[in-house]
Amino acid sequence: MDVPWWREAVFYQVYPRSFADSDGDGVGDLEGLRQRLDHLQWLGVDAVWVCPFYPSPMADFGYDVADYCDVDPLFGTLDDFDRLLAEAHDRDMRILIDWVPNHTSDRHPWFVESRSSRHSPRRDWYVWRDGGGPGPGGRPNNWKAAFGGDAWTWDEASGQWYLHLFLPEQPDLNWSNPEVVEAMHGVLRFWLDRGVDGFRIDVVQGLGKDHPDLMDDPPGTVLPRSSFNDHPSAHPILRDIRRMVDGYPQAPVLVGEVYLLDTAQVVRYLGRGDELHLAFDFTSLYAAWDAGAWRGTIERVERELGPVGGWPTWTLSNHDNVRHRSRYGGSEDRARAAAVMLLGLRGSPFLYAGEELGLEDAVLPAERVVDPGGRDPCRAPVPWDPSPGHGWGVEDPWLPWPPGPDVRNAETLRADPSSILHLYRRLIAARRASAALRGGDVRLLPSAPTAVVWARQAGEDRRVVAVNFACEPVGVDVEGEWVVEVASDGTGEGGPFGGTLAGDAAVLLRPVSSP
Ligand code: GLC
Repeated sequence: MDVPWWREAVFYQVYPRSFADSDGDGVGDLEGLRQRLDHLQWLGVDAVWVCPFYPSPMADFGYDVADYCDVDPLFGTLDDFDRLLAEAHDRDMRILIDWVPNHTSDRHPWFVESRSSRHSPRRDWYVWRDGGGPGPGGRPNNWKAAFGGDAWTWDEASGQWYLHLFLPEQPDLNWSNPEVVEAMHGVLRFWLDRGVDGFRIDVVQGLGKDHPDLMDDPPGTVLPRSSFNDHPSAHPILRDIRRMVDGYPQAPVLVGEVYLLDTAQVVRYLGRGDELHLAFDFTSLYAAWDAGAWRGTIERVERELGPVGGWPTWTLSNHDNVRHRSRYGGSEDRARAAAVMLLGLRGSPFLYAGEELGLEDAVLPAERVVDPGGRDPCRAPVPWDPSPGHGWGVEDPWLPWPPGPDVRNAETLRADPSSILHLYRRLIAARRASAALRGGDVRLLPSAPTAVVWARQAGEDRRVVAVNFACEPVGVDVEGEWVVEVASDGTGEGGPFGGTLAGDAAVLLRPVSSP
C-alpha cells in the first residue's frame, strides 16, 4: 500500500502577517511568502500551512473571516495565491490553507443577514437564543468565551442572544443547519478546485453545535472543559467532509486543531480512519522541558493512537502559544536539542516559522499589544537579514522584532554552518533519507531518568534518538555500535558515538553498518 504523503511530510506553519513583506507596509503578504519559498526549499520542508489570509476586519487577525473565497487586500489577491500555489508545486512543496468553520466574522454577509431580523432566511445559520431577555441575568447559560467574558452577546435590534466561543466579532455558525454544511462544503471545493493540498481546520472541538438543552457548565469549569466542546455531533460533520475531500486527486489532508489537551479525546477525531487524517495533540505543546514529561507524552501517544492506527503529529510552537525556546528558558542548547527530538519522533512534525532560526518571543511594551488573546510575542516578524529592516523594507513592522534579529536572521544563520538553521536542515535531510525516521515504529529504550532514548525502525533501517533534558552530562548506553549522524551541538558528526551526552543536548544515531 502506498504511504499517504502527509505521513512522511515535514510541515511548516506560516503566519502570513509575520512571515515576509513584499510591499513594505510592515505587514507580511502572500507575495512575500512566494519570494521566500527558496528558504523553505533549502530547509527541506514538504508542506506549508498558511494561516488565514481571507478578507477580514482583523478582530482576531484573520480568524474572523468575512469572505472565505477571496484574499484580503492586505495580503494580496487571488492571483497572488494562485502564483504562490503554482510555484510551491513547481518546487514539490504542498500548500495547506486554514479553514475556519466554527465561526465567521460578524461582518460576513451571512451574519449580517442573519442578524437583520428574527425572520431572516439565514437566522438559523447562527446560534440565536432568547434566554431571559437583555441584561447579564438573561444569558441563555453560563458559557465563557475563549478570550474572557461571556460566550453570548445580546443583539439589541433583533432582541436575541447569539453564541460566540471566541470574540463577539466571531459569531458561531450553526452546523446542525444543512444549508451551513452545504455552503461550507462549497468553500472547501472552491479551494480544492484551485489545487490546494489540504486544510488545517480551526477549532474542530467546537463544531458540534447540537445543544438543544444548553446546559450550564458546572462551577469552576476551565476551558477547554466547557460542555460546548467535544460534542458528538462533530463526528458526522467530519465524516461528510472527509468523504468529499477524499474524492480529489491531490489526496488532500485534513489536519484538525482539536484543542482538548487530552490525547484520548483528540484521537476520537480520527474516527475509524474516516474523519481527520491528522489531529493536533497539544499535550506536546504544553509538555515542559523534562524527561519524565516527554517520556509520558510519547508513551501516551503510542498507547492511544496505536490501536486505531492513527498517525501522531508533533508541535512545539505555533501562533497561539509562547515559542518553545522561550518556554524552555531561552537557551539555544535546548532549542537545538528540541529540534532533534521533534524531527526524530514517530509522526508528522509541524515547525512554526522562525523556530529554525532559534527565535524567542518578542518583548512587547504595553502600547504595542494588539491581540485580544495576548499572543503577540510569538507572532513577531521573521527577520530575513541583518539590515535595519531585516528584509521587510521597514524598520518597524506591525509588531516589534524578536530578540537578536541582527544575528538571528535567515541570511546570517545560513552563512554559518554551525547555526541552528543548518541543524534543522541536516535533521530534515536525515529524516528524508531514512525510512525508519520517516515512517518506522518507535520503542523507548532504558535510560537515565533525566534522558529519553528511543529506537526507530522500518525493516532493516534503524536509528536511535537520545535527548538529555538535564544541564549535566548523562551516559547513554545503547546496545551495538553507533555513529553520530546529527548532533544538536554539531560535535562529532560522522564519528562513533562515545556514550555520553552533554547537558541539554541530543543526538541522532545510525548503526555503524548502515551507509
Ligand atoms: C484557533 C486559532 C486561533 C484563533 C482561534 C479562533 O485556536 O489557532 O489563532 O484565535 O482559533 O479562531
